[in-house]
Amino acid sequence: MSILVTGGAGFIGSHTCVELLNSGYDVVVVDNLCNSKEESLKRVEKITGKSVSFYKVDLLDKVSLDNVFSSEEIESVIHFAGLKAVGESVEKPLEYYHNNITGTLVLCDIMRKHNVKNIVFSSSATVYGDPATVPIKEGFPLSVTNPYGSTKLMLENILQDIYKSDNEWNIIILRYFNPIGAHESGLIGEDPKGIPNNLAPYITKVAVGQLDVLGVFGDDYDTHDGSGVRDYIHVVDLSIGHLKAIEKIKDKPGVAIYNLGTGKGYSVLDLVKAFSKACGKEIPYIIKPRRAGDIAKCYADASLANKELAWTAKRDLDKMCEDAWEWQKNNPDGY
Ligand code: NAD
Ligand code: UD1
Repeated sequence: MSILVTGGAGFIGSHTCVELLNSGYDVVVVDNLCNSKEESLKRVEKITGKSVSFYKVDLLDKVSLDNVFSSEEIESVIHFAGLKAVGESVEKPLEYYHNNITGTLVLCDIMRKHNVKNIVFSSSATVYGDPATVPIKEGFPLSVTNPYGSTKLMLENILQDIYKSDNEWNIIILRYFNPIGAHESGLIGEDPKGIPNNLAPYITKVAVGQLDVLGVFGDDYDTHDGSGVRDYIHVVDLSIGHLKAIEKIKDKPGVAIYNLGTGKGYSVLDLVKAFSKACGKEIPYIIKPRRAGDIAKCYADASLANKELAWTAKRDLDKMCEDAWEWQKNNPDGY
């Protein structure tokens, strides 16, 4: 029996494949490579010494997806595949809703047909909108401000409706905070196309000399140094969270929702400092106006995942920066 990882060639998916293979699971990946390269899976095989069964298939292609389920013995699905750029989702809402929502509906329909009813879904802390207080607990009110966030919230609701209609499903929704870092081998990491939107990949591109200067979006937030505070989590810790979810799903939990974060908040300037230390050079930055839609502070209360998944993030901010730098330095142009 295998775990199907949709979007397994991507940033979080590839790291999760490593953890699954290292724990003895057989792994099948479905990815259309719209935001990744097959090379990431070759590197996964290099790190683990094990092979991945890869299908270059789009989730929207029902016939091909059906064939994957007919060819493989799948017991559970970890569903990463989706488009994830907030700004782009505002420009291209139809593409985002179609890819993320319809892709998931097709996946769930094929799963049901093949009687595979275990799914771990990638959600995001974006579903909490602008929280009234931090740290954020799973029961906080939910709201979204852009099409990307809407797809996550809609999919959370859709999955819960599927469970209500058929209690044989087991659905674990994981709300990630800010995944950064890379596998410590330096062989796999984040490989964004074009100029990165997110902070950590932008910093690594400045460090490697491909971008001149970081823009810090706002220094007048109500935080310890005025820059925005987030819960950065090492991608390997996040991946191990998925492994724990796959173990938990064997207990038939029905629907469960967990925050995956460290519970610690660091500012933009804290991250700049930690990254400068890791790469041994100053990261030049300038203060820019606030970015529309950003919030001051966002960090998790991850105690539920700690209690119910026996999971806790172990890698600190320095380790996140060291590993991200190792990846970027060895692979300045990505894969
Ligand atoms: P990523 O873009 O690196 O990986 C997503 C993968 O899905 C890519 O390899 C892409 O080619 C594939 N894909 C997209 N649409 C597809 C389709 N229709 N059919 C088949 N494959 C398709 O992104 P990531 O950072 O690894 O994120 C994984 C998931 O986690 C996404 O759902 C994302 O929204 C969610 N998430 C990410 C973050 C983050 O900061 N990276 C935070 C919260 C949630
Ligand atoms: C963003 C998305 C969020 C998504 C997450 C993961 C927005 C508004 N939010 O989260 O929905 O789930 O990515 O994909 O896009 N920053 C700078 N300079 C930069 C880039 C970022 O100062 O060049 C700051 C931001 O203002 C923020 C922090 O760095 O305070 C983190 O930003 P980012 O990495 O983009 O993540 P989020 O905005 O938290």
